[in-house]
Amino acid sequence: MTTHRVIVQIGIRVSTDIPHPNAAALIDAPYGELTVRPVPAPVPAEGQLVVRVRAVAINPLDAIVQSNGRLMYRWLPYPAVLGEDVAGEVVAVGAGVSDFVVGDRVCAYAMGIEKGHDAVSEGGFQHIVAVPASMSARIPHGAAFEEAAVLPLALSTAAAALFETAQLALDLPAPGSAAPRDEIVVVWGGATSVGSNAIQLARAAGYRVVTTASPVRHDAMRALGAEAVFDYRDPDVVRAVVDAVRGSTVAGIVAIAVGSAEPCVTIAAATGARRIALTSPSVSFYDQPRRAGLSLRRLRLITRLVASNVALQARCAVHGIRARFVWGSSIASSAVGPAIWRDYLPAALESGLHRLAPRPRVIGTDLEAVQHGLDLMRRGVSAEKLVIALAGE
Ligand SMILES: NC(=O)c1ccc[n+]([C@@H]2O[C@H](COP(=O)([O-])OP(=O)(O)OC[C@H]3O[C@@H](n4cnc5c(N)ncnc54)[C@H](OP(=O)(O)O)[C@@H]3O)[C@@H](O)[C@H]2O)c1
Repeated sequence: MTTHRVIVQIGIRVSTDIPHPNAAALIDAPYGELTVRPVPAPVPAEGQLVVRVRAVAINPLDAIVQSNGRLMYRWLPYPAVLGEDVAGEVVAVGAGVSDFVVGDRVCAYAMGIEKGHDAVSEGGFQHIVAVPASMSARIPHGAAFEEAAVLPLALSTAAAALFETAQLALDLPAPGSAAPRDEIVVVWGGATSVGSNAIQLARAAGYRVVTTASPVRHDAMRALGAEAVFDYRDPDVVRAVVDAVRGSTVAGIVAIAVGSAEPCVTIAAATGARRIALTSPSVSFYDQPRRAGLSLRRLRLITRLVASNVALQARCAVHGIRARFVWGSSIASSAVGPAIWRDYLPAALESGLHRLAPRPRVIGTDLEAVQHGLDLMRRGVSAEKLVIALAGE
């Protein structure tokens, strides 16, 4: 249903046809199944856009938060709305926002589960969501919302890994084409959503890229800009990567996918790379029952996690390597956020420099499909993003 409404608040611009009522897929308690029910339509705070969501994507993070209760995101109040990746139309623009107008087609990073954000109005799994304008970008006219929804968290995580000063601290993409440089970035896990974006961002910043992926993805990795691709399941993969970069400076390594940290430390030790950005833990957070309490499996998982981290950091210390865990949300409060979301992304999408990757797999057309998406995510995906296309109320 659509209703006309006027918001009487200085500085806010709104569409006259904000859909009403809103509905969201809520998680009511740690480990709970998602349930869809009405929630108020958000009003934009200063610096925010309100977006009518046309497509949402599922991230491993959503499944991990649901599987781990208060072991992760301890600050998250319940009920909450998970979901980070949205694409849709701007229906209201908050005070202080000058670079978007009502009707813009955008993709945006919904930050509801992050500290300092509202866990309901800013979560992505709903029809109408409030997002930071600074983590939103207009998408090209030819891009479908389903294609654009794959981007926000993966792009932000890749950018955090490559450009944050606490991570690889690489030079940012320059406007226009970046001058090529003879420095290599190794992206372990190029076919992941984060990896597909890391390859493109590193190339846009002028770096050469060597990556790993399943053989069936090698052509796709080259099309994104990687100069060499190796099968991460090959027992000789570490040696192959080291041979491929021999004679060049390795500016840094992005380790993506569970278990990627260990081979990346070996590559860094052999190539002289000094920094590794870790996006994933050494053990899978899916490998445990989705309920509270200290089961044997959970105890084992925590023990393995702590032991592998200690061993990893000890190896890094021996070789003078700095390996730090990345938070994709960190760029929202650093100079990397505007450099990527405002200065790089809209023009790079429009010109075709940055491709919308990986491809979306549409698994449903209503919010009821989100729980199904989380369950599918736990079983694993390959070079695709699970997306729900929302027709609206
Ligand atoms: N720290 C953060 O802020 C943050 C944010 C987002 C994601 N992450 C983490 O980053 C990782 C990737 O997330 P995503 O959403 O990009 O994943 P995704 O798109 O769901 O990843 C799927 C891909 O993983 C690849 N893969 C699986 N195991 C691999 C391995 N051992 N080595 C290399 N590639 C492997 C597969 O590649 P092939 O098809 O080639 O087999 C598959 O295509 C996850 O662990 C996620 O939890 C962290």
